[in-house]
Amino acid sequence: MSKRKVTFQHTIEYEVVNTSNLFHPQNRALLSVGKNEDARRFVVVDANVEKHHSAAIRAYFDYHHIEARIVAFPGGEEHKTLERYLSLARELDFFPIHRRDEPIIAIGGGVLTDLVGFVAASHRRGVPYIKVPTTLMGYVDASIGIKTGFNFNANKNRLGSFHAPQLVLLDKSFLQTLPRRHLLNGVCEIVKLAVVKDAGLFGLLETHGAQCVDAHFQDAQSEIILERAIAGMLEELEPNLFEEDLARKVDFGHTFSYGLETRHEAHLLHGEAVLLDILVSTLIAHRRNLLTGDETGRVFRLTETLGFALDASILDPDLLWSSLTERTYHRNGLQRVPMPRGIGGCVFLNDIRAREIETAVNNLEDWMNIKHENIR
Ligand SMILES: NC(=O)c1ccc[n+]([C@@H]2O[C@H](COP(=O)([O-])OP(=O)(O)OC[C@H]3O[C@@H](n4cnc5c(N)ncnc54)[C@H](O)[C@@H]3O)[C@@H](O)[C@H]2O)c1
Repeated sequence: MSKRKVTFQHTIEYEVVNTSNLFHPQNRALLSVGKNEDARRFVVVDANVEKHHSAAIRAYFDYHHIEARIVAFPGGEEHKTLERYLSLARELDFFPIHRRDEPIIAIGGGVLTDLVGFVAASHRRGVPYIKVPTTLMGYVDASIGIKTGFNFNANKNRLGSFHAPQLVLLDKSFLQTLPRRHLLNGVCEIVKLAVVKDAGLFGLLETHGAQCVDAHFQDAQSEIILERAIAGMLEELEPNLFEEDLARKVDFGHTFSYGLETRHEAHLLHGEAVLLDILVSTLIAHRRNLLTGDETGRVFRLTETLGFALDASILDPDLLWSSLTERTYHRNGLQRVPMPRGIGGCVFLNDIRAREIETAVNNLEDWMNIKHENIR
């Protein structure tokens, strides 16, 4: 019997670039990769973004003599589906692009960039694409990594791939039109990172977070928070882009949230589910002496300061337990639940029990009812 070993190493490289006035004709960021002479672009734009920018986008490509097929796509989790994937894949098939030098352009929130990312990953087994996040969730999280996919069979992101973009363009002016609820939705991912990784970022959120939300993240403090959040996120993602290490700090808040967002998709945003998970986890961490009463109180007070309206009544302990069980499959047989150790520190637990979850849920409901100043 002969045996052959095939080894191939592939380097992933992409840039995350800050820009402004993205559709100003003199701004060449969108055309900085790929060919520009006699060229085409397949562009997918979130419908709520298109409302504000359709004329500018069209004018931009006309100005540069690029033949662009611009497709408006509705945002929202309910559209992250196989059917929407197929419809985009079909549209792309009717508008042939060169396989290497005419990148697809995805302009929208996390739903759009995840879905278009998978179109790019699967079309001709992989073509280049550019991500332009237009929500805070996309800006600090969904757009800067390499995961793509859509929901399938009542499971979040069940079908997908790792497919790196060629370029990520960050223009925070898109956040000016983002509704407050969606700004807060993105803030949850920043809180996540702050609690398990960056005590300094946590302090910045305590002091300036509410004002940043009011300013739609356009002021100077917002710039500092956004830069710090993205730097922290990339520090976690870059050495583990393909998730070979399944114990990931960035999964904090993503254990119990999975079941919550699956069951309550119609009225719970991803970040809102993450925040509920963060609070349950914080209480588990407190009971295990990983967080002091004071630190636990700071996490809870931050959510108040930022103005979240949370519905703890959906926290069914059985659902959270089954979500943990599902995540254990995802994490290859171990719970690997990231938990805060002090503000800014992280440990991974593999022995969380159903009873602990139930106690945390009861405590959380109590807190929501009486809004304790200090948890003892
Ligand atoms: N790939 C990853 O690593 C990763 C990480 C985090 C989250 N995600 C995914 O991201 C998704 C959530 O992303 P999201 O919160 O951006 O949702 P979304 O894409 O549905 O956008 C939220 C809403 O905002 C609207 N919108 C987008 N940009 C706007 C703008 N500038 N002005 C006004 N309205 C605007 C959209 O139309 C939509 O109604 C989830 O599916 C989640 O799984 C992926």
